[in-house]
Amino acid sequence: MQEQNRIIIALDMASTDEVMALLQQLDPASCRVKVGKELFTRFGPELVRKISDMGFDIFLDLKFHDIPNTVHKAVAAAAELGVWMLTLHASGGADMLRAARDAIADLEHKPLLVAVTLLTSLEEDDLIVQGVQRSPLEQVQRLASLAQECGMDGVVCSAAEAGELRKLLRKDFLLVTPGIRPQGDRADDQKRIVTPAAAVREGSDYLVIGRPITRAREPLEKLASIQKEISGVN
Ligand code: C5P
Repeated sequence: MQEQNRIIIALDMASTDEVMALLQQLDPASCRVKVGKELFTRFGPELVRKISDMGFDIFLDLKFHDIPNTVHKAVAAAAELGVWMLTLHASGGADMLRAARDAIADLEHKPLLVAVTLLTSLEEDDLIVQGVQRSPLEQVQRLASLAQECGMDGVVCSAAEAGELRKLLRKDFLLVTPGIRPQGDRADDQKRIVTPAAAVREGSDYLVIGRPITRAREPLEKLASIQKEISGVN
């Protein structure tokens, strides 16, 4: 992938002041930002518009999962906000995924539609409880293939799974990976962490990174050092 601007900073903060303090230090040409459920539920579309007006590409991570008609309308509403990328659950099924695709078919500036396969918080035992007799990796592969067949632009996956998915999916199908920690950084609550360079080597296109940057004493320097780390890989 030729894209230089591969880092998506997760804005998992509790106040708009904190968000703005970080964004004012950042250059929209050198990173993108993720607005998740917590921030969106507190501050809503108004904050999304404000961040967008500052020139940042926004990854709206609301993981839509509903009946096709509802998801169609929610995706259309997100597209009106001008977001760059958004998420939905592949487990919502083929009709739901196609309804999402249809919602933006006629738009000139389409958001990228990225599917969540299996939440990384779920393990084999959780699948058994849900009646799924497959390993987590097999389930991820199955849902990623479904997402590709239904016209999604990519999937969110763990960087540890990216290598396997790369073999299975179209070359230009996007792999968006959280759970990234530069060497020596705290894991926080992430269980299977991968370094930025290793994630890119495994085939990741976009790296979602939160606390290593947002909690750094010098976020800008931290971002620059991660960018340097991945610039030599490929
Ligand atoms: O701070 P940290 O780098 O761990 O943030 C990672 C971001 O990616 C958070 O917003 C988290 O919710 C999200 N995420 C994740 N693991 C997944 C899916 C999303 O860490 N499997």
